[in-house]
Amino acid sequence: MKVKGKSRRHRAGKLGILCFGLVLATAVAVSGYWAYQEGEIAEKQQQTDKIIKQANARLAAIEAKKKEPVYITLPGAEKFQVPAENYEEPNNIWTLVSKARAIGVEYVPSELVTPSVSSHPGTVASEKKVRKIIDEPLTQLFAAAQKEGHSLMIGSAYRSAAYQEQLFATYVSRVGYEQADKYSAHPGFSEHQTGLAVDLSTTSQQCYLSECFIGTADGQWLAENAYKFGFNLRYPKGKEAITGYNFEPWHYRYVGVALATALHESGLTLDEAWPYMETALQTLRSNRAVQ
Ligand code: DAL
Ligand code: ZN
Repeated sequence: MKVKGKSRRHRAGKLGILCFGLVLATAVAVSGYWAYQEGEIAEKQQQTDKIIKQANARLAAIEAKKKEPVYITLPGAEKFQVPAENYEEPNNIWTLVSKARAIGVEYVPSELVTPSVSSHPGTVASEKKVRKIIDEPLTQLFAAAQKEGHSLMIGSAYRSAAYQEQLFATYVSRVGYEQADKYSAHPGFSEHQTGLAVDLSTTSQQCYLSECFIGTADGQWLAENAYKFGFNLRYPKGKEAITGYNFEPWHYRYVGVALATALHESGLTLDEAWPYMETALQTLRSNRAVQ
């Protein structure tokens, strides 16, 4: 009996050890599995963090590229930074309207206002209007001129395509197509339709809309100073073959101070500067700063 009891205890002990062994092995296996799982999760997290970091870096690089300054250097002029805008749009203050580049007969500028500066008494109300954006620069130009003894007025500012059509037809009937074409734009091709162009004159009407205006003190002052207020002498002498129009010392186009200054310094017309502006626009597009 004693022997039997001893071997039962012995077996129970063995079973206990076996069970303990099993539990231990299971615990080791489970904790190993957990550790493995945690390792997997940590690795996946690291990969995700890396992907997010790379994506953020890419976004930051795109944003930085968008903000990268773009410059234009016209020959003989100081370089200047261009605005991140689409100059090809008709509403843009740099838009090119020329003998070769129409604004289109449908275009009507938004925000046309009657400026506070003087106009020719015979100018119809609609033709006195300008784009709101040039009201202030025009006032400053007139004030600066007045300060130096030059009393100016607007002869003609905004012209609709329909009005330009009438004008062109009148000139053709007066001087024939070939001559009219040298000083009057076809409808849809006039800068006056942008609301950014003004024909200026002295209030005395000396050399009114005539080439001799450049010989007057007022015409000369404008040629030397208008750019400081953002206005460009659009059809200069000697550039007739480029602009397609006779010399018009009275016709000024607002392009803003930076471009007007560069045009003045370089002596280039807007037509000649346009390729430089297009190159800048391409850069802005590739930088994703402009659509
Ligand atoms: N005289 C300018 C060219 C115009 O008609 O717009
Ligand atoms: Zn004009």
